[in-house]
Amino acid sequence: MKRVLSAIQPTGDIHYGNYFGAVKNWVKLQNTYECVYGVVDYHAMTMPYNPKKLRENTWALIYNLLALGVNKESLFIQSLVPEHTELCWIFNNFAAMGRVENMTQFKDKSLQSKSGADGFISVGLFDYPVLQAADILIYKADYVPVGADQKQHLELSREIAQRFNNQVGEEYFVLPEILYTETPKICSTADPLKKMSKSAGEKHNISVFEKEEVIRKKIRSAVTDTGETKAGEMSAGVENLFILLKASDNNVEYDALMTDYTNGKLKYSDLKQAVADSLVEQSNHFNMKKSEILEDRKQVKNEIKASSEAIRKFAQTTVSEVKDLCGLINVKY
Ligand code: AMP
Ligand code: TRP
Repeated sequence: MKRVLSAIQPTGDIHYGNYFGAVKNWVKLQNTYECVYGVVDYHAMTMPYNPKKLRENTWALIYNLLALGVNKESLFIQSLVPEHTELCWIFNNFAAMGRVENMTQFKDKSLQSKSGADGFISVGLFDYPVLQAADILIYKADYVPVGADQKQHLELSREIAQRFNNQVGEEYFVLPEILYTETPKICSTADPLKKMSKSAGEKHNISVFEKEEVIRKKIRSAVTDTGETKAGEMSAGVENLFILLKASDNNVEYDALMTDYTNGKLKYSDLKQAVADSLVEQSNHFNMKKSEILEDRKQVKNEIKASSEAIRKFAQTTVSEVKDLCGLINVKY
């Protein structure tokens, strides 16, 4: 059976960009493939953070992913599988400096850090995509469901795998392929020229666990005219609302409103109403699931520790084989 791996950082709530771009696919793929999904707490250390909050956020993300329909047996916490960092060190020696320097996520985040209080940028932030390659390759994943913003990181993972394979003279690592949903890029409703993201601030994302009033308010005030649209083209804001409707599987309303648009009869208020209703319905369902999960946190924690331990076995085998292949001392030598 083909294997799937993906991961998400415990840096805050899951928003509809994460869900429609990636996590919704995680849930769907569980029926067809052997899936492993990580909460990558080592990655969350690459930007300034608070230790107590990190631990809280890690468990909160686990509860949230379960509420969205991810299976417990598929979930692991990255720091409970420390082999990821060992493989990352090995991969540092197979990753081209020039390529890692070129990663746009590093450029964006280092700019963000530079403007922070002390302008500190960590080596971890730079090395982030190499650890990501280790996350993926350690499970010999065939497919990686992520949003469009991760394309470059996936290419780097393939390059590292290829260079490693060339060095050891065998096709040891699988070259992973990216898997997109139909909606790999969701934009901010407050600024539809930017992607929806946690780091851009409160108004630039909508949590999948958001309260009804907040969802309705954010959609009602969604920007529809970005002032950059050429005649005859759909504006980025309107397009983003249509994308949200499509991602919600609300095909009937999508088709009807698209027909209105084509005929020049679309009322933005109707489109906004349809989007808000769809998101509210989904969020209500997720919130209900989440409250069930929160009733038994202790049990969930134990189950996730156990699933991480089981998933770790695969990672340990890979690292042991890699050590043999690249000339490191393993117990048998
Ligand atoms: P992050 O929130 O950056 O940890 O991203 C977690 C997952 O959500 C990754 O697979 C991203 O590619 C995906 N993702 C994040 N933001 C968006 C967005 N605005 N649209 C689509 N996918 C996204
Ligand atoms: N870099 C990814 C993001 O920002 C998170 C991530 C870490 C990841 N390791 C991964 C995604 C492995 C897919 C596979 O969203």
